Amino acid sequence: RGGNMTANPFALLHYSNVYLTVNISLTILLALILVKDTVTFVFAAGSWADRSPLHDAACQGRLLALRNLILQGHNVNVVTIDHVSPLHVACLGDHVACARALIAAGANVNVTTIDGVTPLFNACSVGSVSCAEVLLENGAKPQALVFQPSPIHQASSKGNSGCVETLIRWGADVDFDIPHLGTPLYTACVSQEIECVQRLLREGANVQKGRYMESPLHAAAEKDCTAIVKLLLDFGADIHARNIEFQRPVEAAPPSSLTEGFLLVYEATPQPLSQLCRQRIRDRVGRDRFHLINHLPLPNPLRNYLQYR
Ligand SMILES: *[C@@H]1O[C@H](CO)[C@@H](O)[C@H](O)[C@H]1NC(C)=O
Repeated sequence: RGGNMTANPFALLHYSNVYLTVNISLTILLALILVKDTVTFVFAAGSWADRSPLHDAACQGRLLALRNLILQGHNVNVVTIDHVSPLHVACLGDHVACARALIAAGANVNVTTIDGVTPLFNACSVGSVSCAEVLLENGAKPQALVFQPSPIHQASSKGNSGCVETLIRWGADVDFDIPHLGTPLYTACVSQEIECVQRLLREGANVQKGRYMESPLHAAAEKDCTAIVKLLLDFGADIHARNIEFQRPVEAAPPSSLTEGFLLVYEATPQPLSQLCRQRIRDRVGRDRFHLINHLPLPNPLRNYLQYR
């Protein structure tokens, strides 16, 4: 016995190691299963279980019930574990009367969830212009911080051009650049939301500004969206701009696509003088003074032309 042990002094140690390893693995596995259950439970609770009666009434757009709860003294600024307020929920459901009642009772319009989402962001997600207006009229900030979910980017990617217009009217920066998303115009091009592209351009968005070196025209070409490509070119997009791979928009378009063909012809065709004049005049007027074009002593068709109407 002693001889065997001395011959292999590590044998016992080896077996006890195996035993220990198995035992630890089992414990970890058990712990993981328990943690997973807990996490699932907390998530479920965050979304539903801890909603207040105010959340429920706001979610269903039940104004009368909401008013009664407020009268009974329920706190309008009650939030779930994820910091979702009744105002968030009302805006997500486009229930403008409920949103109004909550704000009148003192709901915070700038409240953010743990993910940085505001009621305004929710209104822009679902295209609720009326909720967005009510929030902005009551002092909601029109623009998020760079690292927070951005209402104007959300509206642009979902095609909610009414919200885009409202946000800009209330002072959101039309060229608000978020590093990983780029500008609202770029976002609208990637999502192929032509109405938003048009609205942003009319409001004076910089037609060259996209994400890093990628221009809106690159994005539209890549998506083979000829209609947006035409629109961007009308607003003076640079057809020779290079992206980070040193490609021009025509090279970013899918091979033998409609857009590639269109861009090839466009490159080879001189621009109409009227188009060049319009761009020059708009550059000289500047974005901050576009609204004054209406007051220029010019014939109507000319004013409309200058404003892409
Ligand atoms: C919301 O936030 C903005 C910017 O921080 C601030 O100017 C505004 O007063 C706030 N509104 C309310 C109603 O607290």
